[in-house]
Amino acid sequence: MNYTYLIIPGVLFLSAQAAISDAAPQQLLNPNNQSSQPMPRSKIAIIGAGLSGATAAYYLHDSIRESQEVDITIFESLPEMGSRIKSIKYRGRTIEVGAPAASTHDWCVLRAMKDVGLAPKAPDPRWYFRVKKRVGVWNGGEILIAEPHEPQCSTWWEIVWKLWRDGTTAWYLRKVSPPMWWELGKLMWRYGVSPWRFHRAVSSDLAAWDRFGADLDAWERLTFSNLGSEMDKSGLSAQVLGSARSCLRDLGHSNEFLNEVVEPCTRARFGQNLDGVRGLSAEIAFREFFSRSVSVSGGNCRLVDRLISLSKADLKFNSGIKEIHPGQSKRYKLRVESPLPKSNVSTYWEDFDAVAIAVPFSMSGVSFGEEVDIRMNLDASSHPSERHITHFVSSQDLSPDFFKLLPRIKLPDMISTTPYSSNVPDIYSITLLDTITRIDRTGCSPPPLSSRLDLDDCDSVIHEGIYRVVSSETIDNQTLSKMVGSSSDYDFPFIHRQVWPYITATEIDFQLPTRKIELAPGLYYTGGGEDIISSLEMSCRMGFNAGMKVFNAVSQSRERD
Ligand SMILES: Cc1cc2nc3c(=O)[nH]c(=O)nc-3n(C[C@H](O)[C@H](O)[C@H](O)COP(=O)(O)OP(=O)(O)OC[C@H]3O[C@@H](n4cnc5c(N)ncnc54)[C@H](O)[C@@H]3O)c2cc1C
Ligand SMILES: *[C@@H]1O[C@H](CO)[C@@H](O)[C@H](O)[C@H]1NC(C)=O
Ligand SMILES: *[C@@H]1O[C@H](CO)[C@@H](O)[C@H](O)[C@H]1NC(C)=O
Ligand SMILES: *[C@@H]1O[C@H](CO)[C@@H](O)[C@H](O)[C@H]1NC(C)=O
Repeated sequence: MNYTYLIIPGVLFLSAQAAISDAAPQQLLNPNNQSSQPMPRSKIAIIGAGLSGATAAYYLHDSIRESQEVDITIFESLPEMGSRIKSIKYRGRTIEVGAPAASTHDWCVLRAMKDVGLAPKAPDPRWYFRVKKRVGVWNGGEILIAEPHEPQCSTWWEIVWKLWRDGTTAWYLRKVSPPMWWELGKLMWRYGVSPWRFHRAVSSDLAAWDRFGADLDAWERLTFSNLGSEMDKSGLSAQVLGSARSCLRDLGHSNEFLNEVVEPCTRARFGQNLDGVRGLSAEIAFREFFSRSVSVSGGNCRLVDRLISLSKADLKFNSGIKEIHPGQSKRYKLRVESPLPKSNVSTYWEDFDAVAIAVPFSMSGVSFGEEVDIRMNLDASSHPSERHITHFVSSQDLSPDFFKLLPRIKLPDMISTTPYSSNVPDIYSITLLDTITRIDRTGCSPPPLSSRLDLDDCDSVIHEGIYRVVSSETIDNQTLSKMVGSSSDYDFPFIHRQVWPYITATEIDFQLPTRKIELAPGLYYTGGGEDIISSLEMSCRMGFNAGMKVFNAVSQSRERD
């Protein structure tokens, strides 16, 4: 039994008591009027079981608590949840084939993890001294490497990193050792004061972004109604107008600095060039290139799974929403379509009081009836393209030859690229994610008994690396073989290919379009943040906000009734 009505003042509770045994629980919500119809339960639809749909459902349910006045249904067109969060396994190791991690600065994902009781993944102890990854940029001719854990700077990338970490103290050259003078001079000559100015801008802009949408301590959860004006209020509109290239150039950064430093970071983090993202994304990419990030222990998909199961929502797989029309008994009716031939109901209509669209419009295939008055041009400035994510396991290291480098050069753990690296197909980044050392006994005959623990001659120790490649096209087996220095087809123990829809902003406009959260009364949209920044933090904040907005609307309408 439900305890909601215990908050009804005692007298009313007692007067209603007699009716408890045979009354439907809903009637008790309105005990003043015994003759009234039972108050209908509010029905909320959420379209999409990705991170934004999951956060919307969780925080809506979290606000309503256990009262049973509201039914949440999540429609997901695929047979699985999570979408661009997807975790798979290789020999017990988790591989994120979608979004690998969130920023450690992100309040929303960190809060959601805490609220549902999930721990962040601990860094692998063997990587303890390498947590600050060796990163490098391949510009087609040479590889520019930073080894942030080394005390002595020896390349310009390390200086960029040091400046990033120490900010202006490095400007005073306190820590500069003699070999660095030379590099520093080269850096100044090449980039002017761009590294320092960029560092300052990143620090202040990202401090504003880190607070965006956060009101963790507020008693009444505040919401925003228009993403565009909220960005403006936070002082971030200049960073999200136009492309990153135009916005950073306006701030006086040199082309060399943008091409050789900022753009490779953006390509590594977002799989985009500076023309395809906004300024804020480039700043986030730069910070994340050097700082740590968080992922969920056991796989990021556990976060979506927990949020949805704790929201008590009815999750309907293989149920794509095709049309939204004004409803009869409730505000909207949705046309649900199942792509599965085996289900006997392939299409049906269902009515809802409020609907949250938790997927970017251009990826959704949803259309609106003419009577639904949406005075907004949704996602006009972007078009969907694809990104290919290839994971492979190899016991051979990456080959310097693939990068047209001399054989003895040691490659960094993460290689980012410039658009001028003349790759075919265009590779944005190659990362060594993890290493596995195991003993292979397949050559032993007969198989060793468990009591005989001594190592046999037939044992061989196998070292394997798990790599991730981000590219704009499929990377075939032959290219992968070349990457690990094999001329013929190398026998990879594991290959996983994933294609994601990707929003590339073709013409980023110079006016921030109004990004209303409520497109029409009772119709909410979380996807408006996607072409400002495509990230877990944006999806989480948009989902959180939409969940709160639906809650406010539901509680207001119930107060009215
Ligand atoms: C390769 C890659 C790497 C990334 N790396 C990072 C990273 O390192 N850090 C970071 O912060 N972010 C990263 N991101 C971005 C991040 O993954 C996304 O921002 C986030 O997961 C989007 O979540 P969402 O819920 O908004 O949308 P989605 O995850 O796209 O979820 C939408 C869901 O809606 C469903 N759907 C669509 N249409 C309908 C319909 N008509 N009816 C019913 N259901 C429908 C879809 O099937 C999908 O499940 C990355 C993205 C990609 C692709
Ligand atoms: C009781 O409910 C009926 C029908 O819904 C309504 O017409 C009437 O005004 C209500 N009375 C009170 C006192 O709320
Ligand atoms: C499919 O048909 C069967 C038998 O007619 C029915 O019992 C079942 O509920 C139907 N399934 C759905 C999803 O409606
Ligand atoms: C590519 O390699 C994998 C693993 O070695 C193999 O399973 C797959 O069939 C190969 N694909 C092609 C097209 O050769």
